[in-house]
Amino acid sequence: MLAIVDQNNIFLPTHSFTIQVDPKIISFLRIENEVVLYFKKPVMVGDIGLKCTINNVHSNTLYLKGICRMRAKEILEHDFGTMEVADLLDIYEKNLINEGLIQGVKALVRILLPGTTNIIQTKNPGHFADMLATSIDLAHAEKARLLNTPDSIARIKLLFGYLNRLNSRTQKSIEAKTNNPFAEDIKELEEKIERIPLSDDIRSVLNKELGRLKHMHQFSPEYSLSRNYIEFVLEMPWGIYAPDHLDIEKAQAILDQDHFNLKDVKERILEFLAVKKLNPESRGSILCFCGPPGVGKTSLGKSIALAMGRAYIRISLGGIHDEAEIRGHRRTYIGAMPGRIIKELQRSKTLNPVFVLDEIDKIGKDFRGDPASALLEVLDPEQNFSFKDNYLEIPFDLSHVMFIGTANTIETIPPTLLDRMEVIEIPGYTDEEKFNIARVHLLPKKSRAAGLPVNNPKFQDDAIKLLISDFTMESGVRNIERKLEALYRKLAKKQAAGEKLPKKITTKVVREYLGPPPRHKEQAMEHDMVGIATGLAWTSTGGEILLIETTSMPGSGKLELTGNMGTIMQESARIALGYIKSNATGLNIDLVDFSKIDIHIHVPAGAISKDGPSAGLAMLTALVSHFQGKALRHDTAITGEVTLTGRVLPVGGIKEKILAAQRANISRVLLPAKNEPEVLKLSEDTKHSIQILYADSFLDVFPHVFRERYDSVSPPPV
Ligand SMILES: Nc1ncnc2c1ncn2[C@@H]1O[C@H](COP(=O)(O)OP(=O)(O)OP(=O)(O)O)[C@@H](O)[C@H]1O
Ligand SMILES: [Mg+2]
Repeated sequence: MLAIVDQNNIFLPTHSFTIQVDPKIISFLRIENEVVLYFKKPVMVGDIGLKCTINNVHSNTLYLKGICRMRAKEILEHDFGTMEVADLLDIYEKNLINEGLIQGVKALVRILLPGTTNIIQTKNPGHFADMLATSIDLAHAEKARLLNTPDSIARIKLLFGYLNRLNSRTQKSIEAKTNNPFAEDIKELEEKIERIPLSDDIRSVLNKELGRLKHMHQFSPEYSLSRNYIEFVLEMPWGIYAPDHLDIEKAQAILDQDHFNLKDVKERILEFLAVKKLNPESRGSILCFCGPPGVGKTSLGKSIALAMGRAYIRISLGGIHDEAEIRGHRRTYIGAMPGRIIKELQRSKTLNPVFVLDEIDKIGKDFRGDPASALLEVLDPEQNFSFKDNYLEIPFDLSHVMFIGTANTIETIPPTLLDRMEVIEIPGYTDEEKFNIARVHLLPKKSRAAGLPVNNPKFQDDAIKLLISDFTMESGVRNIERKLEALYRKLAKKQAAGEKLPKKITTKVVREYLGPPPRHKEQAMEHDMVGIATGLAWTSTGGEILLIETTSMPGSGKLELTGNMGTIMQESARIALGYIKSNATGLNIDLVDFSKIDIHIHVPAGAISKDGPSAGLAMLTALVSHFQGKALRHDTAITGEVTLTGRVLPVGGIKEKILAAQRANISRVLLPAKNEPEVLKLSEDTKHSIQILYADSFLDVFPHVFRERYDSVSPPPV
C-alpha cells in the first residue's frame, strides 16, 4: 500500500477530500478504488494515520475517502513508499450511560446544526463522531486529537465540548437578530399538546413542562432535554388500542397454522379470548411458557399476537442487570432515557400489544439494582395500571398489555415473580412430533427462505427421519431447522450455478449434503456391566442420560466423587452409601470392611455441571451392583431420589428424561411410583415404544435391573 506523508491537513474516517500530489505518486496509482495510507509529516512508528480509498484520480489530484484509522508499525521508505500498518478499530463499550450520552449529543446537534439528519441517523457511534467532526469548524490541533482517539466515547466527549463552544457563539449571533427565535418551536409543541387526545393529567404535566421550557435558555442542554421529553410523551400511543379479534375459530386456525400440536397452550389462549369476548374488562393472567430450547416458546408469542390482532413486541431479559433498563433513568442528566418497557410500547404504537418477556429466567441482579423487582411492578395487576417509569414520570397504564414470559427453567425465576405468572410447561417433542413439525412447518418455511419451490425436489419421509435421528439430538427443533437451512442453502447454490438438482431428497442426499452425522452425547452401553448404572438427568436444555460408574480400592473409608457434581448430588451419593453400610447384611455384602476401602463414584462428561437429588437411586443401584459383583441391565435407565431408609421419592422432568432415554436407545425406564401421573399424560406413541417400570422403595428396584433372579435380599430392619 502506498503511503502519502507530505500533507499537513488532518482528515478523519468517513471524510471525503481531495489532495494534490506529486505526479510521481499518481504514476504508482493506476487502479481506482485502490487503498492509500495518509499520514501527516513527519511520520514515525506508532503514529496514527488514515486509511483511504481512492474514489477518483484527476491530473495531480486524488479524490479520497477515509475508511478507518491505522497505526504505522514499520516505515519501509520515507516520503512515499511502502509502510507496514495495522488497522485501528473504533472502541465502543455499549452501555446505558454511553448510549445516553450519544442521544444527548445528538439532541444538541439537532438544534445547533439543523439539516444534518444523516449525521444524527448514523448508528455507529464512531462514525457518528467522525461525521460530526466534518460539520463543525475545528482547529488543526483539535482534529489531530480526534484522529488520535480511537475510543468513540472519548471522541464524542471531545465533540460535546466543541459543540458547546459553537453553541455560545450561535447564541450570540441569534440573539443579535431576534429576541425569540424559538417561538415557532414552542408554538408547534403547544399545538400538538392541544391536538393529541390526552388525559387532563398528562396535558397539565406537559403544559407545565412547556412553561418551564419557555423560560429556558434555548441553547442550554436543559432546553433540549426538556423539549425531547415533551416530544417523547407526545409520541406515546395515548388512547390507542388495537381492536381484539375475538373470533375463536379464526384464532385457532392462525395458531394451528404456525405451530404443530401444543394443544394445552393453544387451549389456554383460546380460553383467554373466550373470556375476553364475554367480559371485555377482564384482565386475564400472565402466562409463562417454560421448556427446553427450540420448542417454540418465543415464536408462539408472535402467533398469539397475530391471532388476537394485536401488535407484537419482545424484549430479551437475558443478562439485564440494571434496573434502569426496565424502569428508565431520571431526567436529570443529559441523555436520560426511558426504560425498555415504555420504549417498546411506544414502538408498538398501541397500548395493548402482546409483550413477550423473553428469557425471564436469565434476568440478572447486581449493584446496579434488581431488575426483577421492577418487573414485579410491571406484572402485578394490582400495580401495573400505574407503572412508573423514571423518565416518563407520568404513571402509565400497562394493564391492557398481554404479557407473556418465556423461560427454560422456573428454578432461577425469582419466586415473587413466578408467583405472578401462570406457568405453562412446554416439554420437549418426541421423534414423531418432530417429524410432523419438520414436514408440515419447517420444510416449507426453509425451502421458501432459500428461494426454492416448496417440496420440489420432494423430501422423502425417511430422509426427514434420518435428519432427526442421526443429525440432531435435542428436545426442541432448532437444530433440525438449522440442518434444513444448511441443506436448502446447498440446493440453492446448485440451482443458482445452473447445476441439476437431485429429483428427490433421499437419505443418501442428506448424507451427501450434510456430511457424516456429528458425534452425539452419551448413548446406552452395549453390554451389561458391573458397577455402572444408567441414570437420567434433566437440564435446562432438555434431558440426558448419565452413566454412573462406581469402583472401590484399598484405602481408609473415603468417598471420592468426581464429574462436576453439585452439592445436592454429592449428598445423594452419601445417602446411597449410608444406606449400603447400614443394610450390608440384607444386601449380602457384610464381608466388606468399609473402613479399609475408598469408594469412588464418577459421572462422566465433567464439563457439564449436574445437580439435584434425582440420580440418588441410580447411584445406589450402581454401588450395590459393584459390591455384589452383579451386572446391571444396560437397556434400563433409572431415575429417582432415594432416602437413607431406601424410600424412593418422585423427581421432576419425567417427559424430558423419557425422551432422552429414547434418543439414547434405552428401552426400559425405572421411575419412582409417585411419578406415575406424569407418565399417564405422555402420548400413546411414547408409552408404547418404551417400557416404564416403577419403584416405591429400593427393594422394588432389584428385579428390574438385574437379569438373574434376585432373591438374595431380605428386607432391611425397619
Ligand atoms: N410446534 C411447533 N410447530 C412448528 N414450528 C415450531 C414448533 N415448535 C418450534 N417451532 C419452530 O422452532 C423454531 C424455534 O422456536 P423458538 O425460537 O420459539 O424456540 P424457544 O422455545 O423460544 O427456544 P429458546 O428457549 O431457545 O428461546 C421456530 O422457528 C419455531 O417456529
Ligand atoms: Mg426463545
